[in-house]
Amino acid sequence: MWSWDFATAHDFRRGRRRSEFAERTIGSCRENRRWGRGNEDLRRFLVSFTDDPSPSLPFIFSFTHHFIYKNPNFPFSLLLQLFLCFEAPIGNGIILLGFEGSSRLLFRQLFEKESATYTYLLADLAHPEKPAVLVDPVDKTVDRDLSLIKDLGLKLIYAMNTHVHADHVTGTGLIKGKIPGVKSIISKASNSKADVFVEAGDKIYFGDLFLEVRSTPGHTVGCVTYVTGDGPDQPCPRMAFTGDALLIRGCGRTDFQGGSSHQLYKSVHSQIFTLPKDTLVYPAHDYRGFTVSTVGEEMLCNPRLTKDEESFKAIMENLNLPYPKMIDVAVPANMVCGLQDLIGRQTEPV
Ligand SMILES: [Fe+2]
Repeated sequence: MWSWDFATAHDFRRGRRRSEFAERTIGSCRENRRWGRGNEDLRRFLVSFTDDPSPSLPFIFSFTHHFIYKNPNFPFSLLLQLFLCFEAPIGNGIILLGFEGSSRLLFRQLFEKESATYTYLLADLAHPEKPAVLVDPVDKTVDRDLSLIKDLGLKLIYAMNTHVHADHVTGTGLIKGKIPGVKSIISKASNSKADVFVEAGDKIYFGDLFLEVRSTPGHTVGCVTYVTGDGPDQPCPRMAFTGDALLIRGCGRTDFQGGSSHQLYKSVHSQIFTLPKDTLVYPAHDYRGFTVSTVGEEMLCNPRLTKDEESFKAIMENLNLPYPKMIDVAVPANMVCGLQDLIGRQTEPV
């Protein structure tokens, strides 16, 4: 049996279609006449694989094939659960699920419609305190976000920004005023104010989950991308909160705030496109209604960043965008962590 299994793995590495292996594994199930509801789920699961190679799949198929022969009476719905510990299909692609990481992460994508900004809430539900972070909160939606956090019984510990935004005022200052103990985070390179400054390689822990900091300047001088951790108990696939460095089918402008098209191109290619292709891309904005992409999808379909560097620079230099209407309000406020109004009030005589 194992010789067949290893042959399967070998054939897989040689590029045979994933669906062939799915069918062979399904064949094993049929031969044993053990098709129940669980098996039907398993069948649907297997045939949903694409041909995009994943190194662990040959071994999973081998394992399944072997297991079915050796244990014909095993409840296959349980086997499916075992499968889902490692791999599960979402849409047309494969999303790898770290069993513990996926079950412990609470994730919400929140939207602020005026600036089309996404705020992300992440929390470690397996930790007794349910510690949470907010990425790129907006001043106008702070009450909504805090109400959700309260409803879910989470403890917000960090309010963090991917960069100094020019199109909205960050909510971090307001949040700090409403929930004492919350710390604001921004990159050291941004030269703005915050409680915690981060650099490339830093890890921001909330419970036992963490976000890794990747330096992705180019849209602004201090842009960072926060990426969920790489490890057995971390969410899988990984999730990248790219700010404005990489948008879905686009990227942030490079003509203000120390922007550089050369730097942005380098940042995206070296820090984001080097992540696993199934990494989910969650940008700071979307103006067309998209909510999520993947690294692999943007490597194939991003109309700017699939070009060579010279073509990319030419595109960015000829966008002819209007002057950002919020920049004169938002940037000074965001340079002080959105605390501008609060600082002003504090300095007034009472
Ligand atoms: Fe921005």
